Amino acid sequence: MSDYKLEYKIENDIAKITFFYVKHNSQNKGIGTEALNKFIDDCKQKGIRRIEATIDKNVIQFYKKMDFTVDNTPIYETVPYGNYLQDYVKAFINI
Ligand SMILES: CC(C)(COP(=O)(O)OP(=O)(O)OC[C@H]1O[C@@H](n2cnc3c(N)ncnc32)[C@H](O)[C@@H]1OP(=O)(O)O)[C@@H](O)C(=O)NCCC(=O)NCCS
Repeated sequence: MSDYKLEYKIENDIAKITFFYVKHNSQNKGIGTEALNKFIDDCKQKGIRRIEATIDKNVIQFYKKMDFTVDNTPIYETVPYGNYLQDYVKAFINI
């Protein structure tokens, strides 16, 4: 079984990461860096021009290290009972 899981969808020439997680016991060993770099290379091969992700605030440093630009505006999600502030922000990289 893999130490990580990366899911994404492609819309036009933009790849959107919908899920990226490195197993708890395997974190901080370079696996996330390697996986994301491989993903970026694969995207380049496919002619994708941009990668976007909605990320937890706790992992902003990781994405910055990977050369993503982080928009610190918190993301509001509309739920049936109103607008809830989520601890998520947007990150992107043009490739
Ligand atoms: C964020 C994550 C994908 C990084 O993968 P990784 O294999 O652990 O990271 P690497 O070893 O390649 O890189 C290390 C860097 O990532 C960051 N990082 C690693 N583990 C982290 C953690 N648990 N929480 C926050 N940042 C973390 C640090 O900035 C670290 O930099 P440093 O080496 O200068 O300290 C992975 O730790 C993870 O899945 N974390 C928890 C789940 C999560 O919140 N995922 C994002 C949901 S969108």
